[in-house]
Amino acid sequence: MSRFSSMSRVRRVLVVLLSLVTVVALASGGGFLWLYTDAKVSTVGKADFDNALAIPPLAESTVRADGTRVFDLTMRKGEQEFMAGRPTPTWGFNGDYLGPTLRAERGEKVRVNVDNTLDEASTVHWHGMHLPAKMDGGPHQMVEPGASWSPRWTVDQPAATLWYHPHPHGATEKHVQRGLAGMFILDDKKSGRLALPDTYGVDDVPVVVQDVKFDGDAKFDHGRGLLANTGFLGDRTMVNGTLDPYQEVGDELVRLRLLNASTARVYDFGFDDGREFALVGTDGGLLEKPARLKRVQLSPGERAEIVVRMENGGRTVLRSFPKDNYGDFYQSRFAGGDDSFDVLELRAKAELRESPELARSFGELEVPDGSDSVRGRFFGLRQSGINSRPMDLGRIDETVTRGTTETWTVRNEDGVPHNFHVHDVQFRVLEVDGKEPPPELRGAKDTVFVPGGRTVKLAMRFDGPADPDTPYMFHCHLLLHEDQGMMGQFVVVEKGQRAGKVPAGHEHGTH
Ligand code: C2O
Ligand code: CU
Ligand code: CU
Repeated sequence: MSRFSSMSRVRRVLVVLLSLVTVVALASGGGFLWLYTDAKVSTVGKADFDNALAIPPLAESTVRADGTRVFDLTMRKGEQEFMAGRPTPTWGFNGDYLGPTLRAERGEKVRVNVDNTLDEASTVHWHGMHLPAKMDGGPHQMVEPGASWSPRWTVDQPAATLWYHPHPHGATEKHVQRGLAGMFILDDKKSGRLALPDTYGVDDVPVVVQDVKFDGDAKFDHGRGLLANTGFLGDRTMVNGTLDPYQEVGDELVRLRLLNASTARVYDFGFDDGREFALVGTDGGLLEKPARLKRVQLSPGERAEIVVRMENGGRTVLRSFPKDNYGDFYQSRFAGGDDSFDVLELRAKAELRESPELARSFGELEVPDGSDSVRGRFFGLRQSGINSRPMDLGRIDETVTRGTTETWTVRNEDGVPHNFHVHDVQFRVLEVDGKEPPPELRGAKDTVFVPGGRTVKLAMRFDGPADPDTPYMFHCHLLLHEDQGMMGQFVVVEKGQRAGKVPAGHEHGTH
C-alpha cells in the first residue's frame, strides 16, 4: 500500500516534471522560432518611392589670402520631418539632419571651424583622410559643449569620396545615429580630366545610406534586437535622410557615390533588374580601371563609386540583397545577413542627355603593393577586443615608423561579423583568405569587411608627420563594437623614436 502510493507519488512528480520540461521546451522553441522569423527584414517590393531624394548642399567655404579654404560646421540639435507632419528629434551639422558635403582639391590647405552647440562633448573625425594625428578628430580631440575646434591640414591624396562623423569614445554609435555624418569629396587634376559624370547632384549623386526605425511618435527607435550582437538594425533604409527616395536622372550615365553610414548594417548593393554597373572607385579613390559588376558589398564606413547606364524613360531600383558570406545561420539571421532593402529608385527622363563613354583606365593606384613592406603585424578580431585587449585611451598598441610600408593581417576570430578600419592611411588588400581579392577590393581602401572565418592581408604606408604623443585609431566600424572597445591606437614616429605617453583622456560615459 504505502509502497504503491509512494510509487504513484514518484510517478506524479515525474509526470509534472516532464510536462513542465515539455512546456518550457515548446515555449522556448516557439519563442526562438518567433524571434527567428521576426528577425528577418525586407522592404523589397514594398517601397513607394514617393519622395524626391534630398541632395546634401555643398558646404560654403571662403578662401583666405594664404590659400586656405575655410569651412564652418556647427553640431546642433534639430527636428526633421522624415514623415510629413511628424517631426523627429535629430542632430545635424549646420542643419537638422546629416551635414553638407565638403569639397576640396588635392594640394589645397583646408581648415574647418567646428562648433559644438550640443549639450554633450563630441568630436568630428575625417574618415579616410590622410592628416596629422592632432587633426584627426578621434577620441583624443574632444570638443566640449559650447566649445570649438579648428583643425587644418593640406589635402595630400587622390580624388575620393570620404566622410566625416563624430568619434567620442563610447558614444559614437549614438552620435552618428542621431544624424551627425556628412560627405567629404576630394578632387584632383586627373579626376577633373577623366570622362566620368561629375555634376554634383545631377549625374554625380551622393547616396548616404542609413537604416532606421521609428516608434509610434515618429521618434528614432534605436533599440537593439534581443539576439542581435552587431548593434542596431533598422527595419527600413533612407538615403540622404529621405525615406522612400527617388532620383530623377537626365543623363545616360549616372555616378552614385555610395556611403554606408549605417552603424551596424552591411549592404550588398545591386539593381532590381540585375543590370550591371561599372565600379569606378572604392574608399580611397578611383580604381585602375572600371570593373563591370552586378553587386558591391559595403560594410559600415565603406564607400563605392559606381556608374549606371539608364535608358530613355527607364527605371531601376538600387537594392540591397541578402548576403551569402555572413558566417553561420545565426549571424545571417540575427546580424542582418538575410535582410534586403529597396533603397533608391532611379527614374530616367524621357529624353536623356548623351554621356561620353566612360574612361577605360583611370591610372595607377597610389597604395603600396607590399613589396617594400618592412614589417608585419597581426590583428585578431573579437567582440571583446582586438588582440584580446579592449580599447584603453591611455595605451599605445602599435608604434610604426614614418615613411615605411607594413603588412597587416586581420583575422576574424569569433565568427561575429566585423570590419577593420585604419585611420590616416589608405591600404591595398593583398589577399582575402590567401587568394587574390575580388574587383571591389582591388582599389584604395580604409575599411574592409571581415566576416566570420575570413582573414585579410593589407599593405599600407605611413607617410604622415611623426607625432609620438598623439595616436590614430584602428577599429571595427560596427559602431556598437567600437564603442564597446573593439579599437586600438597607433602612433607614427621617426625612425628609432619611441611612443610617448598619451593621456588616458576624456572618458566618455554612455548617455
Ligand atoms: Cu569612420 Cu575611426 O572612423
Ligand atoms: Cu576613420
Ligand atoms: Cu565588430
